[in-house]
Amino acid sequence: MTSVDRYGVMGYPVSHSRSPVIHRLFALQTGQNIQYELLQVAPEKLETAIRQFQRTGGKGLNITVPHKAEVAKLADHLSERASTAGAVNTLSFKEGEIVGDNTDGIGLLRDLVVNLGLTLEGARILILGAGGATRGIVGPLLEMQPASLCIANRTLSRAEALVEKFADAGELSARRFDDLTEASYDLVLNATSAGVQGETPPYPAGAISDRTFCYDLSYGLKPTPFSVWARAQGAARSVMGWGMLVEQAAESFRIWRGVRPETAPVLRQMSITA
Ligand code: ATR
Repeated sequence: MTSVDRYGVMGYPVSHSRSPVIHRLFALQTGQNIQYELLQVAPEKLETAIRQFQRTGGKGLNITVPHKAEVAKLADHLSERASTAGAVNTLSFKEGEIVGDNTDGIGLLRDLVVNLGLTLEGARILILGAGGATRGIVGPLLEMQPASLCIANRTLSRAEALVEKFADAGELSARRFDDLTEASYDLVLNATSAGVQGETPPYPAGAISDRTFCYDLSYGLKPTPFSVWARAQGAARSVMGWGMLVEQAAESFRIWRGVRPETAPVLRQMSITA
């Protein structure tokens, strides 16, 4: 009897995760025989749970909130992008070793550039938030050679620390939300966790004009607070991160199975207007 290769997503909480649906659709589309589980694991049980999954023959895991930074410390090897981000969202178990990668940045880029048709070269980009989500996307965004990249955060020191970390890679600056008065941004990305926590911070109204494309890394069946707010400010477009979710999953699937699924039909099958 051939056993089915096992994968899963580990988070806390994780019951809301769409990853099992996405990976099942990828498997159907590419004719791959895999099993993909939801694994709710509290932070204090994380290492034990990962090692047990590995020991019992599991092939790979997606890692989600709040474990991404912790798992980066557990892996035997990290890809360059995971190491730069200090965060892992994809683990592969190979010959007894744990290999960590991060597909969030490439997932965001593919959604922005391929699905949504944005030109990032020469663009003026603003990121709201300076936590784990931002750390995963700054490097890949800078590789697209924007004219400037500003990181604004409630706590200025966290934005400043990120600017220092990536200083050699491009034109970067750190701001407080209150200091964003000129509406000179082509793209505003919300990478705060405020909406997820049911909070609506006073987002910087001055940063949005009718030429600004707004993108929320968060997503929901209802519009997120940021996407509602951005629309109300008269942004050119306001989009939630469903496409990034599907694209980062496709990249994980490729790492595990060696085949990259088509993402457009999966986005459509999830009945989502991205
Ligand atoms: P994640 O991995 O989701 O990025 P994180 O590392 O805890 O989580 O970072 C959360 C980010 O959302 C931070 O930038 C945080 O701002 P602070 O650094 O000032 O804490 C931001 N954030 C969360 N709730 C917020 C709120 N109500 N208003 C403004 N920013 C908020």
